[in-house]
Amino acid sequence: MLMNTHQRYGAVAIALHWLMAVLLIALIAQGLYMSDLPDVGFNKEKILHIVYHKEYGILALGLAAVRLAWRVGNVLPDLVEEIPDWQKVAARFVHLSFYGFMFALPISGWLMSSAAGIPVYVFGFRLPDLIAHNEYRFQQLIEMHKWLGYALIGFIVLHAGAALRHHFLSRDNTLKKILPGK
Ligand code: HEM
Ligand code: HEM
Repeated sequence: MLMNTHQRYGAVAIALHWLMAVLLIALIAQGLYMSDLPDVGFNKEKILHIVYHKEYGILALGLAAVRLAWRVGNVLPDLVEEIPDWQKVAARFVHLSFYGFMFALPISGWLMSSAAGIPVYVFGFRLPDLIAHNEYRFQQLIEMHKWLGYALIGFIVLHAGAALRHHFLSRDNTLKKILPGK
């Protein structure tokens, strides 16, 4: 079924979850790799990486909006009964924080590009500049984008670790309810 139930996630939420997991992890890996490439001269590899990173980063922003709308318009599957309250609060807190990251990362990237005076293109369309060219703001936004990325890595490790622990140690339904199948 397409919609969520109290027992499990529906097909749309599952597709968005795994598509975005791959996309976000790829964007983090690419971001870390490309920002270490040297700036000297005209580094074609670095420029190409940045162009694709921006394009797919904005795609992630669009998917985040679809996903948020879907989440608000659907029931939220229950967490497994057996866990203590603090774990339920922690799990919901991490999930909500992910929504924050899914917007804050691409928006800080877009602001960063505008501050640098470099337009953002998505599949041929030029997006508006969000703020005026300003070198100081640009430096601040690079830092912000970078630390948001590092924090997201920490949250992913925590979240995936908890999911695997539920699946292999507690052997409950946590992971199964967000995997395709019955
Ligand atoms: C969910 C989406 C995104 C994620 C997860 C992400 C993640 C990252 C990460 C981890 C870095 C490396 C930071 C560092 O070590 O310095 C990075 C760099 C960068 N990102 Fe993103 N990013 C996203 C979206 C965007 C968007 C939408 C743009 C622009 C429109 C953008 C522009 C950049 C640029 C220009 C850099 C290189 C900064 C430098 O030269 O140091 N990013 N990104
Ligand atoms: C960038 C990576 C990831 C992000 C941003 C992310 C985000 C989320 C969010 C926001 C939810 C809550 C449901 C929703 O609103 O869609 C969720 C649920 C879940 N995720 Fe992830 N996820 C990521 C990667 C992973 C990985 C790698 C695993 C498994 C190893 C995983 C396992 C789960 C499970 C089992 C649930 C269901 C939790 C429950 O409701 O009991 N996620 N994820």
